[in-house]
Amino acid sequence: MAHRVTLIPGEGIGPEVSQAARRIIDAAGVSIEWEEVSPRPAEERPGAELPYAAVLESVRRNRAALKGPMATAIAGGAPSINVGLRQALELYANLRPVKNLEGVKSRFDGVDLVIVRENTEDLYAGLEHTVVPGVVESLKIITEKASTRIARFAFEYTRRHGRKKIHAIHKANIMKLSDGLFLTCARRVAADYPDIEYKELIVDNTCMQLVLNPHQFDVMLLPNLYGDVVSDLAAGLVGGLGVVPSGNLGEKAAIFEAVHGTAPDITGKGIANPTAILMSGIMMLDYLGETAAAQRIERALHAVYREGEHLTRDVGGHATTEEFTAAVISALGRA
Ligand code: NAI
Repeated sequence: MAHRVTLIPGEGIGPEVSQAARRIIDAAGVSIEWEEVSPRPAEERPGAELPYAAVLESVRRNRAALKGPMATAIAGGAPSINVGLRQALELYANLRPVKNLEGVKSRFDGVDLVIVRENTEDLYAGLEHTVVPGVVESLKIITEKASTRIARFAFEYTRRHGRKKIHAIHKANIMKLSDGLFLTCARRVAADYPDIEYKELIVDNTCMQLVLNPHQFDVMLLPNLYGDVVSDLAAGLVGGLGVVPSGNLGEKAAIFEAVHGTAPDITGKGIANPTAILMSGIMMLDYLGETAAAQRIERALHAVYREGEHLTRDVGGHATTEEFTAAVISALGRA
């Protein structure tokens, strides 16, 4: 049966890498009808309504989307489209598996951890205002409902994937009420899963522990902001943002996207690495139940990295996006 998937090519290198991923997925023989849409409104202004009703409608209808990066202004400007999509579609779980890819130089070998980040609240609620000139207030929202939901997701994911241990990450020694509530919910859910080891760790110590010994971690459960920071740190352990995927999952839909940005410095040069969005595409195929195709693409990708002859510059090679893509498609025949 053909799947219908929303494709958001994104901006900067987004169209280049998403096109490459689409070609590889199509070449693997999965029958996908891609519905291409853009969430960028014609005119942006701070505080504007979500302008991309057609995108939301498409993702809701198709239940799955593959997305390239969208640029966001730093300080001032319109709110983040990426965050807006996640909130509007209630994609409450951000899932980022972090694993070494053989052939990619990195500081550690044998890293294999999964980050589960709450995706809808915390300081990302975007509730900021100037109290008096020179004083700004940003509201950190933590609710029992969202904290319990993400904890349940993390424990279910851990059990389903045969993983053993969850670390809940917090700063409840300082934010006693907000992070305290997050922990209370995690503990309550943990009690329902006696087969899974449950631990807690303060976020600053977590960063040090990750850099010293990432192998101690299996699944990590974090509120939104810590999850954002720690997941990039974790990506750095295995070679950077170019080689890790992500999925934003909700009850009714999911958006899979590379965690890197629009890379304006290399846009249009044909040298962008499509690995991260392709790996996100592999996660999407799993989500769609196309496990065999997902595994085949993964084997082809690993073969290209192991052989090392068609890698892009960011991972030490000389290949163009096109050459890398062709190499993965060719490796599919042997995978
Ligand atoms: P970036 O990830 O775009 O670039 C950082 C560095 O990594 C650059 O040197 C870039 O060339 C390189 N790089 C990134 N992806 C690459 C790839 N696939 N292949 C080869 N090299 C790659 O981060 P930056 O510069 O902080 O952000 C640029 C824009 O992207 C901003 O507007 C930001 O808001 C947006 N962004 C969007 C995201 C999303 O849509 N999910 C996530 C992160 C940033």
